[in-house]
Amino acid sequence: MTLFPADFLWGGALAANQAEGAYLADGKGLSTSDVLPQGVFGPIVERVAGDNGLKDQAIDFYHRYPEDIALFAEMGFSCLRVSIAWSRIFPQGDEDEPNEAGLAFYDRLFDEMTKHGIQPLVTLSHFEMPYALTQRYGGWASRQTIAFFEHYARTVFTRYRDKVKYWLTFNEINMALHAPFTGVGLPPDSDKQAVYQALHHQLVASARSVTACHELIPDARIGNMLLGGVRYPLTCRPEDVQEALRQNRTWQFFGDVQARGAYPAYMRRFFREAGIELDIRASDRKDLRATVDFISFSYYMSGCASADPSLAEQAGGTLGMVPNPHLPSSEWGWQIDPQGLRYLLNLLYDRYQKPLFIVENGLGARDEVTPDGRIHDPYRIQYFNDHLIQVAEALDDGVEILGYTSWGPIDLVSASKAEMSKRYGFIHVDLDDQGHGSLERRRKDSFYWYRDVIRSRGQTLKPAG
Ligand code: BG6
Repeated sequence: MTLFPADFLWGGALAANQAEGAYLADGKGLSTSDVLPQGVFGPIVERVAGDNGLKDQAIDFYHRYPEDIALFAEMGFSCLRVSIAWSRIFPQGDEDEPNEAGLAFYDRLFDEMTKHGIQPLVTLSHFEMPYALTQRYGGWASRQTIAFFEHYARTVFTRYRDKVKYWLTFNEINMALHAPFTGVGLPPDSDKQAVYQALHHQLVASARSVTACHELIPDARIGNMLLGGVRYPLTCRPEDVQEALRQNRTWQFFGDVQARGAYPAYMRRFFREAGIELDIRASDRKDLRATVDFISFSYYMSGCASADPSLAEQAGGTLGMVPNPHLPSSEWGWQIDPQGLRYLLNLLYDRYQKPLFIVENGLGARDEVTPDGRIHDPYRIQYFNDHLIQVAEALDDGVEILGYTSWGPIDLVSASKAEMSKRYGFIHVDLDDQGHGSLERRRKDSFYWYRDVIRSRGQTLKPAG
C-alpha cells in the first residue's frame, strides 16, 4: 500500500451557509442562501421579521468553532476548508467599506485553526452572495458584480494575507447550470443565454481574483472548484461515447477556461447551436488569461450518458445522469463509485497538468444514536476507505494531489434539501430537520477510524477486494 506523502493535506470541508448559522449576527446582511430555506433548488422565500428556519442557526459553528476545531485537531487534521460569507464582509455587496465585525470573526476563526496547526483552505463564494446584489443588480447578470466581487476578494486577501495560503474562487461553478439562483443569483427559470452570460461574468471575476491573489499574497496558491460530474458512456455504442464526451464537456468547460485561460474551441459550436451570443469583451479575454494554480473538485458519484432519448428522459437526479447498472446507490440515489475518483483524478491531471485537490467527498446517510450514546457508522467507514484507496492508486499513477478534505466532517445542513437527516460527519450533531436538539457534538466510530488513517498516512486503509 502506497504511503500518502508526508505533506499531504488531510482534513474536512464546510461551507459558511451550512454550518455557521448566526445569519444576521454582527451586521451580516442577508445572503441568497438565507432566502432558500428549502435548499439550493427550492423556492425563494422572502424573509419576514421574526421568522426562523433550520439554516438560520445551522450547527452554530459561528459560536462553537473552538470546540469543533479542537475535535478536528484530535483527528489530526492539517487542513480545514471553510468559506467566507460574502455578506458578513459586505452586507449589501456594493459598499465601499467592509463590516469590521465580519472580518474580525474570520480572524478569530483562522487564528483558532493556526493554533492547532490546521491550514485554512478558504472558498470565496460557496453557494451564496449578498441577496441585495440580486435585488439591485440582477446578481451576476450585471457586469458591475465583477467589480463588487473583486473588491470583496481584495479586501479578504489583504486582511488574511498572513493567515491563509490556500484559496478557492467559486464553489462548484458549474452548478449554476442546474441552480441559477444559487450559482449566479438569477431566477430559477432563467434561459441558457442569461445563465451563460452571468457565468461569463463570474469566470472573469474568478480570473481577476486569481490576479489579485498573486499580487497581494505572492506565496499563496489559488484554485478553482468544479463539481466533478463524470459520465461514462452507458454502452460502447459510438453514439453513447460521443454523448458522454458532450456531457462531460458541459462541466469541463469551466475547468478549461479557468486552467487554460481561454474559452475552448468546442464551445463555439455549442453556443451557435443553442442560439447563445455572449458579450465577451477584449478586456475579458485578457483577464481570463490569469489561470489557477491548482484544480479542486467535489466527487460524490459518477453516472452514465446515453444517446437513446428514451433513456435520457429517465435520467435522474439534479445532474441528469443515466444510472449505472453496475453500481449501488446511497439512500439519496447517489451512485457509489470509488474507482470513479481514480478515473477523474487521472482525467483531470491528463487534461490540465496542474496539481489537484479533492475538496469534497463523502457519504450522506442516516445515523442512529444507540442508547449508550454511540454512533456506529460502518457504511461511512467503508465509503471513505474505498475512496481513499483509489486516491492512493491515483498517487501511484503519478497524479499530483495536494490533499483531501472530506465533505462535512461534522454533520451540517445539507445543501440540496436543507435537512439534517442526511449526515456526512465523523462528528454527530444533536439537531433534527426541524431545528430541535441540544447541538451537542459526539464522536462517531468513523471519527476514530479517520484519525487512524491520518496518523498512519493511509497504512490502516483496507485494500479493495
Ligand atoms: C456539494 C456542495 O454540491 O455537495 C455542498 O458543494 C453540499 O455544499 C454537498 O453540501 C453535498 O450535497 P448535499 O445536498 O447532500 O448537502
